[in-house]
Amino acid sequence: MEIRTERLHLREFARDDWRAVLDYQRDPLYLRYYPWTERTEEDARTFVNMFLGWQSEQPRRRFQLVIVRDSDDRLIGNCGIRRKRDNDWEADIGYELAPDCWGHGYATEAAAAIVDFGFGELGLKRISSWCIADNVASARVLERLGFQPEGCLRHNEYFKGHWWDTLLYGLLSDEWRPALENTQTEA
Ligand SMILES: CC(C)(COP(=O)(O)OP(=O)(O)OC[C@H]1O[C@@H](n2cnc3c(N)ncnc32)[C@H](O)[C@@H]1OP(=O)(O)O)[C@@H](O)C(=O)NCCC(=O)NCCS
Repeated sequence: MEIRTERLHLREFARDDWRAVLDYQRDPLYLRYYPWTERTEEDARTFVNMFLGWQSEQPRRRFQLVIVRDSDDRLIGNCGIRRKRDNDWEADIGYELAPDCWGHGYATEAAAAIVDFGFGELGLKRISSWCIADNVASARVLERLGFQPEGCLRHNEYFKGHWWDTLLYGLLSDEWRPALENTQTEA
């Protein structure tokens, strides 16, 4: 599966993508809001292999796609949409980008495409997401797409010596207004 947007294309993971993933996942800026303190080759291979496994699900419930920038054909991150087990109408989304590519609207562009795929091709009623409350950039991506805040789980994560709050967000199909034209999905 492949989705094209104005500046990006989202494609299925390939086995060798672990190198590009590791390049950015070992950056301390990337690691800030994750429990991980470092990432190794084995971690990156395991990460990619998990998404390769999702590609053969029948029927397919989870899609995690690499984000490639058209201008230089570079793998700059990934994003995904995952239907819940035993629930065909709800899924959650997630995304991550290489820190040197932050602040250009790429995450919003990629996430808009994956949300559009969820409400369109998958026929979802509801899409949810969550982020660590301090992760302002991640919350802003969701808010820009029209996700509504649905609550705050106080101190529900503990890592790196801190308690962290988690924000929950949700978007319903009849609230979705595709923000971006020129988004195309190819089977
Ligand atoms: C979250 C993340 C994907 C955002 O990527 P991005 O491409 O920089 O996002 P965008 O450029 O689309 O920006 C989205 C909004 O966040 C804002 N933003 C970006 N970085 C910010 C920061 N450090 N502080 C505050 N706001 C920030 C942008 O200004 C923009 O808001 P605006 O339109 O009101 O100006 C990126 O920071 C990332 O990969 N972080 C590490 C992984 C991660 O946390 N993933 C999410 C897990 S829940």
